[in-house]
Amino acid sequence: MSDNVFDFGMIGLGVMGRNLLLNMADHGFSVIGFDKDVAKNSALEASATPGTTVKGVPDLAQMVQLLQRPRKVMMLVPAGQPVDDVIASLLPLLEKGDVVIDGGNSHYTDTLRRVKYLREKEIHFMGIGVSGGEQGARTGPSIMPGGDQAAYQLVQPMLEAIAAKVNGDPCVAYLGKEGAGHYVKMVHNGIEYAIMQLISESYAILKHGGLSNQELHEVFKSWNEGKLQSFLVEITADIFLQKDDKSDAHLVDVISDKAGSKGTGKWTSQDSMELPVAVPVIDTAVAMRTLSGYKDERVKAAALYKNEDEVSSVSKEELIQQVHDALYLATILSYAQGLAMLYQASNDLSMDIPLPEVVSVWRGGCIIRSSLLEVFTKAYKETPVLSNILLNQDVASLVKSVESNARSLVAFAAKSGITAAGFMSSLAYFDAYRSERMPTNLIQAQRDYFGAHTYQRIDIPGTFHTEWGQQ
Ligand code: 6PG
Repeated sequence: MSDNVFDFGMIGLGVMGRNLLLNMADHGFSVIGFDKDVAKNSALEASATPGTTVKGVPDLAQMVQLLQRPRKVMMLVPAGQPVDDVIASLLPLLEKGDVVIDGGNSHYTDTLRRVKYLREKEIHFMGIGVSGGEQGARTGPSIMPGGDQAAYQLVQPMLEAIAAKVNGDPCVAYLGKEGAGHYVKMVHNGIEYAIMQLISESYAILKHGGLSNQELHEVFKSWNEGKLQSFLVEITADIFLQKDDKSDAHLVDVISDKAGSKGTGKWTSQDSMELPVAVPVIDTAVAMRTLSGYKDERVKAAALYKNEDEVSSVSKEELIQQVHDALYLATILSYAQGLAMLYQASNDLSMDIPLPEVVSVWRGGCIIRSSLLEVFTKAYKETPVLSNILLNQDVASLVKSVESNARSLVAFAAKSGITAAGFMSSLAYFDAYRSERMPTNLIQAQRDYFGAHTYQRIDIPGTFHTEWGQQ
């Protein structure tokens, strides 16, 4: 094979890197991957579709040498120092105008720093969020690119070819400047945490209501055929059927309740507080994963605070409907909070994130894909600049249609002592957001009372301070 022939290079041939390359090759691009581990190079070549051009090499310089100019190289390595290490080893091998892409879950501030550093060297650096897991990478992920427009245009044909398609539209679009791609992916993951938490609460309540794993499977399966249709509901239905291969149990029943996390949900919460913007369902989801790790304390507390098991006064069918409606409402509110965060970050951090494109890209391939994203896509078509999706009329109608049942469900969960923090938090957010007047005037009075922090009045403009209690 002659020099300078490959269209695209990949650094890191773990399953994600390998699958993305194979996906690209299936769409007619010639691809080359680098991994120090020769077994991974062989695995890449062995799994290529016959007739496609796929090569794996154990030498980075060789891979770079074999790429067409300007070079397009993606890395899929763990976030943090490994990304900087790859950049350091790549730099001496690159030329002006080459495009380097970080396709991992990097923190957007790291991406911002790297964009600036490489811009000085006239090399484009793009942070691209890729969602959909291993299978998505192979068959069509959702892709969230940020960076220079000019660099995006160079990789756009490849990204559009490999992305998931919804009604023929590729689930990829330019999503803003500098760290925007990784910012959008971070918030995607925050929403992912929230919805997963809400589904786990639905499971807890339905299990308390006496549903077997088989019944849970059927309920989630039927929900996935209705307005709760989503990837996460779909896989949840499957999970309840899975038998354990080490015991007679269903696998879900023998899995430890300590939840892991790699940090993107926490980043979303942390960054929301920096902006600030309120994303309490995401915060709650992060907190519940943390609390799940306190197993020993929870076991002691469970013995100390025995639960008076409240039995639902409604029928099984009604309970299932209430959980359905609460999950629907809280899922809408999770998206609403994440999108409100993107709206504010786009302005405050000057990233120019186009929300209509974000929801469109999320419609297929990613972990939070759901039929609701079609509703949001329509809403942003009507109003491209929307500070909160809850202000859209169609979304408001959907919310109102399930509100009453969601309230009944939250009341039942509170009475029966079932942890439903995500549901409760979503309702609390909703009630605050739709309050014309919150009770925070009292907080202002208290702040002024003890700290002379001043307050504004509703009737006279200006800033006021009162010597409280002196009348
Ligand atoms: C995706 C996922 C993916 C990964 C999460 C898991 O969009 O494909 O979000 O990026 O599965 O990072 O995150 P936790 O380990 O923190 O749950």
